[in-house]
Amino acid sequence: MTSRSALGLSLIVVVVALGAVVGFQALTGDDSQVRDHATASYLAALPGEAVPSGSVFEVDIVAAPAVAEFSDDLSVEVWAYNGTVPGPELRVALGDTVVVNFENQLPQATSIHWHGIRVPNSMDGVPGVNQAPVEPGESFRYEFVPKDAGTFWFHSHNRGSEQIERGLYGSVVVVDPAEPTYDRDLVWMIDDVLLDGDVVVEDFNDAHETTHNGRWGNVVTLNGRVAPTIDVNPGERVRIRLVNASNARVIAPEFPGLDPIVIAVDGTLVRQPFSGQGFVMAPGNRVDLDITLPDAEQQIVVAEDFNGEGFDIATLNIRGSSADTPTFAAPVNDAIPRSDITSGLGIDHEYSLDYIPDSSGPKWGFNGRTFAETETLSVDAGELVTVRLSNGSQALHPIHLHGQFFQVTAIDGVAVDNGHLRDTVLVYPGENIDLAMAPVDVGTWAVHCHIQEHAEAGMMTLLEVDP
Ligand code: C2O
Ligand code: CU
Repeated sequence: MTSRSALGLSLIVVVVALGAVVGFQALTGDDSQVRDHATASYLAALPGEAVPSGSVFEVDIVAAPAVAEFSDDLSVEVWAYNGTVPGPELRVALGDTVVVNFENQLPQATSIHWHGIRVPNSMDGVPGVNQAPVEPGESFRYEFVPKDAGTFWFHSHNRGSEQIERGLYGSVVVVDPAEPTYDRDLVWMIDDVLLDGDVVVEDFNDAHETTHNGRWGNVVTLNGRVAPTIDVNPGERVRIRLVNASNARVIAPEFPGLDPIVIAVDGTLVRQPFSGQGFVMAPGNRVDLDITLPDAEQQIVVAEDFNGEGFDIATLNIRGSSADTPTFAAPVNDAIPRSDITSGLGIDHEYSLDYIPDSSGPKWGFNGRTFAETETLSVDAGELVTVRLSNGSQALHPIHLHGQFFQVTAIDGVAVDNGHLRDTVLVYPGENIDLAMAPVDVGTWAVHCHIQEHAEAGMMTLLEVDP
């Protein structure tokens, strides 16, 4: 940032001097001021770096085949972390050092990625980018201090179209003790899986799925159960941390009769809470909802119907004694900039999201190339980068940036004010999405479509953040 600011400043000085003569200082001077202001605002919006408290949260995680009971009469052979789907919920305090002693007992190489958590680059878990794959029978020790509080998740980052589909995912909740405590704080990991009877369909990366929107399963689970019933008390104020762990399915959960309020998106708090009824969640997205339950016994079926298939997600069974509803104000991050902060600035880098027919089968890529032939984008830490994602294809692409939070600033060239940051954004067919960010975490980070079948078909590239 220092070099950019210094340059900006000297430009202003020169331009002001020239402007005195020819009267055009506003244009050039304003652009660099806009850039500097936006840079400073994005840096300030990052929740900030946790101060390591010295306390250690250590856990052993084993990836191995297991049997999961999706319902009382549906047991499925899966691949699981510590024998369950989802794997363990890692709930840590902001400032904790997380140590994961990971062991691979699968018949394939694997690795764990900590989706959305700002970790040191060597802990980010992408084989061939951040670490060597963990071969069958081998171990790897992950160690990091999550920089931000919020709702995150972890999943395999090798052959995701198979390994995530088979069940290799879990959640990470980083709790900031400064945030208010809800009557209940629940993680809801939503996933779908394609079953033939009680067997996971093994035709991974099928050409039809790959050409279209990836694999959409025929069974939807919440925390590994089909449409579970969840007991809650009347009048309670609950925080529900939704995670879409599907390979490809986009969901838009509806809470009939309730008023779910979004307080965080992709982990980080929003500038101002807003209604989250039907909030669209692509694979990888998280949303934290603040819900005050009615003070009367009843059952509410939470369902989703993004594409007309209509799945029930869960039943909230509101019963028992009434809680005294707490009245605290929802937590917010009022440093999130207004997204018109970058208006007038150009696009620094454009990615076209491309279908690439190939004799070996359907491929997807960025700017006409598949990984690892894609071009690495290099940026300087602490400087603003504006990016356009242009989807000229017929498919959905939830694009995920490792190691970064960004803000959507415009859709199809029209400025939008999204009062929140993200790490994954859904780009619809034909859509152009502009985003802005000021990367600070140094290293080479993966950028890819979170539809696992698209990523496996080449839709990945790298973002290098230089010190
Ligand atoms: Cu959640 Cu690279 O992914
Ligand atoms: Cu895609």
